[in-house]
Amino acid sequence: MRKYVNSHSGRAFGDRIWVIPFFASVLIFITLFLTAIFGLFTSPNGEEQLPFDIISFAKSEDSSEYFVESDLKKSLDTSGEWETRLPRLAYLISGTKGDSHRMMRTLQAVYHPRNQYVLHLDLEAPPRERLELAVSVKADPTFREVDNVRVMAQSNLVTYKGPTMIACTLQAIAILLKESSEWDWFINLSASDYPLVTQDDLLHVFSNMSRNLNFIEQMQITGWKLNQRAKPIIIDPGLYLSKKSDIAWTTQRRSLPTSFKLFTGSAWVMLTRSFVEYCIWGWDNLPRTILMYYTNFISSPEGYFQTVICNTEEFRHTAISHDLHYIAWDNPPKQHPLSLSMKDFDKMVKSKAPFARKFAKNDAVLDKIDKELLGRTGRFAPGAWCIGRADGGADPCSVRGNDSVFSPGPGAKRVQELFQTLLSEDFLRKQCT
Ligand SMILES: *[C@@H]1O[C@H](CO)[C@@H](O)[C@H](O)[C@H]1NC(C)=O
Ligand SMILES: *[C@@H]1O[C@H](CO)[C@@H](O)[C@H](O)[C@H]1NC(C)=O
Ligand SMILES: *[C@@H]1O[C@H](CO)[C@@H](O)[C@H](O)[C@H]1NC(C)=O
Repeated sequence: MRKYVNSHSGRAFGDRIWVIPFFASVLIFITLFLTAIFGLFTSPNGEEQLPFDIISFAKSEDSSEYFVESDLKKSLDTSGEWETRLPRLAYLISGTKGDSHRMMRTLQAVYHPRNQYVLHLDLEAPPRERLELAVSVKADPTFREVDNVRVMAQSNLVTYKGPTMIACTLQAIAILLKESSEWDWFINLSASDYPLVTQDDLLHVFSNMSRNLNFIEQMQITGWKLNQRAKPIIIDPGLYLSKKSDIAWTTQRRSLPTSFKLFTGSAWVMLTRSFVEYCIWGWDNLPRTILMYYTNFISSPEGYFQTVICNTEEFRHTAISHDLHYIAWDNPPKQHPLSLSMKDFDKMVKSKAPFARKFAKNDAVLDKIDKELLGRTGRFAPGAWCIGRADGGADPCSVRGNDSVFSPGPGAKRVQELFQTLLSEDFLRKQCT
């Protein structure tokens, strides 16, 4: 019993221990509360005294510093040391069944040891043709020594007008990015394209150009065209079938996008390394979102890069609306451009464009271009890097000289004049509109 009382009174006494800390903490709380209220009303800029005020964070000028994207954006800044280096180009040349000889001819006409080349023959071409192409690249002593021409073993089923075309282009860019860290611009050509100037001309003109200009024809899709182009939903069978068939149209239609604007233009582009890195790496979600959106878009190769570049603040002012090609269309334009021949030669030259399309296989006008515009008598369109003897039908390019020396000809003057027009204020005002 006693034991019980003792323990009881002991507990009662023990219970009262909390009273002192309780009143002490109440006192501290009241003091702090009053201080806070007092401080808030007397301080002229009370906001700054609340270090974790979310609103003031958001309002502050450099709130972006707190997020990962600001570090990534810094890597986009390609001005500075890049400008002093001489440029290098990276080409994708693609073709289909029966194109391997044409691709080889186009490759030789645009070849320069400074550049990088990737060749892609699509899945319609038989494996034998792909192997032949790879063997003839391997057999060329210059390609072997310089090691800047690659044939893709993996061939894709590519649908004209479908997203499989973009996927193939992105894959080739990824290969070029991995294989060489030095090139400045990516250019996409097909087997039926041909250059109208030498690489010395082009490299000379680009030496003097800002390394962040993208040549990509673009205009916003507006009016009735929006309904016609953006509402249909197509499916590219090339994404999941192993035999080529045409794009399938679904009966459903979709609403117009509201989180970005749609742009269209030419599927032929010349893009800067920083812009294609932005598209390939995808640390910003926009290029990926737009790629997924374009999966079901008719003629996606004419809109993907255009829509990405014009909806990205860092890049839209770098988009020069020209595809650097001379292309002739019927009047009214049909789906495919006209094949160029002898009668188009003067128009091609007058256009000042560095490339033209499309040409039939071994058309006579290609020989005229070789002779009169490129000076190509042997394998390559020669440049200052070819220092071998040229007499007696010898190939001057069999001896390789300094590839940092260019000898620009009349082609450089034409391209320079074209760029003067393209970089004029009048022209730039039309960017992404
Ligand atoms: C790249 O080049 C090919 C030529 O083979 C063209 O058809 C294609 O649409 C181009 N553009 C893109 C974005 O893939
Ligand atoms: C390089 O650019 C400057 C200024 O834009 C121009 O004056 C000069 O003629 C150009 N040089 C060449 C070789 O194109
Ligand atoms: C190649 O030419 C460039 C420009 O003239 C020069 O700076 C460089 O030293 C040359 N390189 C070699 C290996 O001769």
